[in-house]
Amino acid sequence: MASSADNRFDVIVIGAGPGGYTGAIRAAQLGLRVACVDAWRNEKGGPAPGGTCTNIGCIPSKALLHSSENFENARRHFGDHGIRIDSIAIDLQKMLARKSTVVRQNNEGILYLFKKNRVTFFHGPGRFETDAAGLHRVSVAGAGEGMVLTAPHVVVATGSVARPLPGLAFDEKRVLSNDGALSIAAVPQRLGVIGAGVVGLELGSVWRRLGSEVTLLEALPAFLPAADEQIAREAHKQFTRQGLKIELGIAIESVDSGAEGLRVRYQDSAKKAQQLECDKLIVSIGRLPNTEGLNGEAVGLKLDQRGFIEVDAACRTSIEGIWAIGDVVRGPMLAHKAEEEAVAVAESIAGQHGHVDLETIAWVIYTAPEIAWVGQTEQQLKASGRAYRAGTFPFAANGRARAMGDTAGLVKCLADAQTDRVLGVHAVGPLVSELIAEAVLAMAFRASSEDIARVCHAHPTLSEATREAALAVEGRALNI
Ligand code: FAD
Ligand code: NAI
Repeated sequence: MASSADNRFDVIVIGAGPGGYTGAIRAAQLGLRVACVDAWRNEKGGPAPGGTCTNIGCIPSKALLHSSENFENARRHFGDHGIRIDSIAIDLQKMLARKSTVVRQNNEGILYLFKKNRVTFFHGPGRFETDAAGLHRVSVAGAGEGMVLTAPHVVVATGSVARPLPGLAFDEKRVLSNDGALSIAAVPQRLGVIGAGVVGLELGSVWRRLGSEVTLLEALPAFLPAADEQIAREAHKQFTRQGLKIELGIAIESVDSGAEGLRVRYQDSAKKAQQLECDKLIVSIGRLPNTEGLNGEAVGLKLDQRGFIEVDAACRTSIEGIWAIGDVVRGPMLAHKAEEEAVAVAESIAGQHGHVDLETIAWVIYTAPEIAWVGQTEQQLKASGRAYRAGTFPFAANGRARAMGDTAGLVKCLADAQTDRVLGVHAVGPLVSELIAEAVLAMAFRASSEDIARVCHAHPTLSEATREAALAVEGRALNI
């Protein structure tokens, strides 16, 4: 911690999630004097930098997804490989403790990186104070009497919070946000999930694998409408086959809590009254930008109608020297999008040219099979009237997928009909979270489907399915 005399910086970053901590490190690498302020507290009240992503998002969810998938594989699939397990049980407390250790390692890793890069870290809520002497001022509660940091540049990276269902507050015991849903102490017999989006599918999968009967209630009539329709259809088929119950086109009417559990009353897609009884309910209906306690009014920070901080394409707010990045601004709420904006802003502050291409931000859903995509979907291309060609390749025809015994899904490549430029790549299947990086690289370099098709891919790998999908654009896939 810095002393109160030591409070003048080139850049103050508010928030140490993937946006804030990455921005602080990049700015420090560029020779700027940087303070990073973050309020997150661990269970002992100490600092826990890393934001939603590290503490109650990306990292703990992936830890539990991996643990629960190991359990599912051991229970259902190891027999296919000739491995007999006569008795198998879950030690949930150990699984949760392992997840917490992974989180702590990441918190400590960020504190180490701050030290290494000479970023001064302040633990506590940061708050804008009125500007003085041409500098922005940020006070930090709990960082010492009257601690006010000053700098010509402030980067706001205060992230987002889970959106509650109107009239139903999270108690994190029965009505759970992603926070409570990552720490359920005993596997619930009946788990309800409102919202079949990314959180609902990932955390619903975790608890289904561990033994819960999981029902997802989704308001929209289509499943995963942001994904390519063909990919969403295949994913829906696989998830329902695994036992996830997914009801689309519903309208929640009420949620009541009683001695026996929770009762969700809703209208189904045929407008018939239905009810779901469950022991726990995850509400995963999106996230809201977080500007609470920031006192943006002191400097005239503008919010849009949905509460996001208004920024231009370069993440500049309307106030000279104040920038905003990550979940608190428009665009996808993804950790790697926040990181990209962070680097671009730090470089712009240092006088370089920072740039983020929102068109090549990939989406990944870490279910099994995984879902990943970058660029435009087939339905978006159709709607825009752009002439395109599509190539698909199923994992059932990929040697590595067969060897793994994991053949559900496909890769799909969409390319411009005239120029052959890759417009989108969509996949559902094993480890497509890793395969999508090749497609992102191709799109970032404005590659054609032929470029991907002409590159030699190691055999046998899952990545050959991407190449085959690119070959299929020209109708010349080799292995199908
Ligand atoms: P955040 O990570 O929310 O960090 C903001 C930080 O600012 C927090 O530490 C907060 O305490 C702090 N803060 C807020 N206000 C103040 C203040 N006034 N003073 C000081 N500090 C303050 N994205 C992916 O890309 N991949 C995934 O696999 C993925 N999985 C997810 C799983 C779940 C369950 C959830 C909920 C989200 C997931 N996300 C994932 C989304 C990802 O977590 C967010 O997009 C990402 O964390 C946004 O980063 P950020 O830096 O903008 O904000
Ligand atoms: P989401 O936007 O992905 O899904 C919310 C779903 O809830 C939507 O399908 C929506 O139609 C539905 N919904 C909204 N109101 C409803 C209502 N009243 N009744 C029933 N359904 C309703 O949001 P989610 O799952 O909460 O996740 C928030 C964000 O966090 C994601 O959009 C994503 O940006 C990020 N995230 C990313 C992950 C990843 O990258 N793998 C994992 C988890 C979260």
